[in-house]
Amino acid sequence: MDKAQQDALKKAAGIEAAKLVTDGMIAGLGTGSTVRFLVDELGRRVKEEGLQFTGVTTSRRTQEQAESYGIKIVDIDDVDHIDVTIDGADEVDKNFNGIKGGGAALLWEKIVATNSNQIVWIVDESKVVDTIGKFPLPVEVIPFGAGHVIKKFEAKGYKPVLRLDAEGKPVRTDENNYVVDLHLERIDHPQDLAEDLITTVGVVEHGLFLNMVDKVIVGDPNGPRVMTNGNK
Ligand code: A5P
Repeated sequence: MDKAQQDALKKAAGIEAAKLVTDGMIAGLGTGSTVRFLVDELGRRVKEEGLQFTGVTTSRRTQEQAESYGIKIVDIDDVDHIDVTIDGADEVDKNFNGIKGGGAALLWEKIVATNSNQIVWIVDESKVVDTIGKFPLPVEVIPFGAGHVIKKFEAKGYKPVLRLDAEGKPVRTDENNYVVDLHLERIDHPQDLAEDLITTVGVVEHGLFLNMVDKVIVGDPNGPRVMTNGNK
């Protein structure tokens, strides 16, 4: 699939998911190239249809885009609930286990997701996999002592790589932390790995989102299709 085809599928999934946002809702808005299409569509509806909703964003990037359309964005601590959060994902399997954080927003994404009544992911069909792990697993790490965390990951065979920007400097998250990507190739025991990562001192959060999502809208050449999680 070339990029233009992939973008068309992402856009179709984003437009479909935008229908889930209705007047008066509090909606969590994710991060990434697929979510950009979602926010474009919500912006269009605000302008052309008078849609009124309140957003909670998972990154400063999404906040800027949403506010450029006049969408009202509030701090997560200023709302008592979030009706639905729509976000992208890097991989998802048939058990609704996924990897997120390719855009370095995994920490805020997980906080927003955890406080949402419903979680919906929008992906193109290339993200639906049999076994997660081919996509390097992002882990958000406190900069102080990050070198030691990386050495521990190396000793465990996790193949960690500190994420760098175009200038060769460590990428910083919205919380000013580092991202370490684990090149695992496949993750057969995601629960065990999640437990190991989150109990490593210096790790803030990891990009394993296990059985959290309610619905995945998949951009498919035949039109968006929905995978519904019956085990949540
Ligand atoms: C951001 O940190 C990520 O979790 C994104 O949601 C994920 O990487 C999907 O991004 P794309 O829609 O750009 O593929």
